[in-house]
Amino acid sequence: MKLRKTIPLFFVAGLVGWSLSACSSAEPTTLKDAYSGKFLIGAAINKNIVSGNDDASMEILKREFNSITAENCMKSAWLQPEKGVFHFDDADRFVQFGEENGMAIIGHCLIWHSQAPKWFFTDEKGQDVSRDELIQRMQDHITTVVSRYKGRIKGWDVVNEAIMDDGSWRDTKFYRIIGEDFVKLAFLFAREADPDCELYYNDYSMMHEGKRNGVVEMIKNLQAQGVKVDGIGMQGHYGLDFPDFAEFEKSLVAFADLGCGVHITELDFTVLPSPDSQVGADVAAGFEYQQALNPYSEELPEEVAAQLYSQYADLFAVLLKHAGCVERVTLWGISDADSWRNDWPVRGRTDYPLLFDREYQAKPVVKKLIKLALN
Ligand code: G3I
Repeated sequence: MKLRKTIPLFFVAGLVGWSLSACSSAEPTTLKDAYSGKFLIGAAINKNIVSGNDDASMEILKREFNSITAENCMKSAWLQPEKGVFHFDDADRFVQFGEENGMAIIGHCLIWHSQAPKWFFTDEKGQDVSRDELIQRMQDHITTVVSRYKGRIKGWDVVNEAIMDDGSWRDTKFYRIIGEDFVKLAFLFAREADPDCELYYNDYSMMHEGKRNGVVEMIKNLQAQGVKVDGIGMQGHYGLDFPDFAEFEKSLVAFADLGCGVHITELDFTVLPSPDSQVGADVAAGFEYQQALNPYSEELPEEVAAQLYSQYADLFAVLLKHAGCVERVTLWGISDADSWRNDWPVRGRTDYPLLFDREYQAKPVVKKLIKLALN
């Protein structure tokens, strides 16, 4: 008679218990889980993703990220292209997606000279509007938009890119017509519309000493007038040979010393040569296409990929060192295919700036960043 081997019940229970505990203590395998308790890991999402037309990106988004930023659909030119005419469909879908998936929702951006609709600054005769009229238009826009999402948005990029690399005021219509008080007014209008959401100042090239000092001075002046700035956004549009991480760290510490949370708001590392090293992330910049500026149109050489990964790892090492004041790191996109860097400052190039490739696969550096967080 064939002996039926029976396994004692206590052994089975022990085995099940062990395997469950082993699973529950298994190391995190996603970015958001690895950085849980350190800082949020976010991604900018575009209209395609917001509209549910990009399942591959959506799958990565839900798996790897716990914060989302509207890449474009909450900019004033999108929301209010004509005076008093608002288009909220995309923004509504963006906020709803964030709520349905338990994500920290970042509104970007209320006041930005670059993507404000033309009507914002001109009167019926095509002249510059008066200071009072522009203040009223700012207040109407901010109040309408922020009130609509009151209690649902973790934080707003209230003002974007108001300071130049040398620390001077950017010569925009907001600055020219209202003066530097446009920043204070924007924060006051936003705070009035939603007292509980966080309010940020956001800018690029923040590792430059001049920009750092100019932003610190501006924030100190706001604070001296009783205006609370909850966070400072360091956009993070970097490359293989910048930023200088020591200078980056000095800026991070300077902003944290103001009592503001530090947010890396638009992170990507271009691997492509820049036609102008001073161009920062000024979206107005544009240069003619030349093949020499698009050296990796077919694929990215391994040695260049290694430099890219090293840049990401070096940056995250600095961020982890200051995890106490870094509140969020947001990648400016999910897949390389959708990055704005493929078309800026030169249209029609092939860049590789993000963490997921054109096949929507995680680059090897993702595992490296997860490991960094666990060490
Ligand atoms: O959606 C329209 C499409 O209907 C039209 O056919 C096409 C014609 O060119 O334009 C499309 O809109 C483009 C939009 O991106 C969506 O792709 C706009 O022209 C283009 O200007 C816009 O570029 C965005 C840029 O900001 C200006 O708003 C980029 O996607 C976005 O990544 C970039 O992000 C900015 C941050 O908001 C602020 N910091 C700098 C960063 C890079 O410039």
